[in-house]
Amino acid sequence: MHSTAEKNNIPWRKMAQEILESEVYRELNSIQNQSLVYPDYYLNPFRAYEEGNLTWLLCGNSEFSHCQWKVAAEAEAATMSMARRALPDASSIQEANQILHGNWLRAIEQHHIEHSESSVINDILDIGCSVGISTRYLVDKFHTAKVTGLDLSPYFLAVAQHKEKRTSPGKFPKRWIHANGEDTGLPSKSFDLVSIAFVLHECPTRVIVTLVREAFRLLWPGGTLDLTDFLVYKVLQELSPVLFTLVKSTEAFLDEYYLTDMDETLREAGFVNITSILTDPRHVTITATVPQ
Ligand SMILES: C[S@@+](CC[C@H](N)C(=O)[O-])C[C@H]1O[C@@H](n2cnc3c(N)ncnc32)[C@H](O)[C@@H]1O
Repeated sequence: MHSTAEKNNIPWRKMAQEILESEVYRELNSIQNQSLVYPDYYLNPFRAYEEGNLTWLLCGNSEFSHCQWKVAAEAEAATMSMARRALPDASSIQEANQILHGNWLRAIEQHHIEHSESSVINDILDIGCSVGISTRYLVDKFHTAKVTGLDLSPYFLAVAQHKEKRTSPGKFPKRWIHANGEDTGLPSKSFDLVSIAFVLHECPTRVIVTLVREAFRLLWPGGTLDLTDFLVYKVLQELSPVLFTLVKSTEAFLDEYYLTDMDETLREAGFVNITSILTDPRHVTITATVPQ
């Protein structure tokens, strides 16, 4: 995986090495919620890989944290590769990233302006923020908002916090929370925007339903939910047989994600104004409102 990325001018190994050789490890203690109970699906053997191949199964418990750090260190390069694959005609990786994330953010902003009485966005929750890439884009777009990144992986959050410390103040979110997005423990009606970007394809249907219900609880009336993810059939169709087999083995719940009726899930949770936009050839952004 990383050699393909490097052919595309994404310095995958260098980026990961920089993180692994930094003081990122120090962040873990301050971020980790030791009492968090991980949901079963999250402990399935599908999340880690090494040298481009799936090796979670090879990672014994003693190597668990090594694998987790490695995946966390590689997350930014993996996101750049994803943008490149979605927009192969872009003139550079940077342009591909800007188009992918720019279209996503515009879809959210337009939905919020159109459907909320107050178009101002003060509080944002980024569920499944990983190492904080989506969070960073949300901060840059809605720069007067307080942004919270929440994730189940303390390793990803440690990388997010480490990167935040290396950027200028005010450019990054104030809060990172190690919690389950299905049951965040955060107060009801406390966000104008909840974003769940590139998370649902990793989740079984029952978790997708619970995440959507929790987002409904967390949003103010008039608040906007963003669900952005892969257009699964498109992504699968375009893969070579080898990659197809790899993806199927690493993404245990892709089938469930594909078969989940997202509109129905949103309607049942109480959302209105459900809108889907293809933000690029491989990704879809679904936005919805909590009724006023
Ligand atoms: C592909 S990453 C998302 C990337 C990020 N949103 C972005 O666009 O840069 C998926 C993330 O979802 C997280 N995740 C999966 N299930 C979750 C849950 N129930 N609650 C919180 N985070 C979850 C994983 O730990 C992982 O970091």
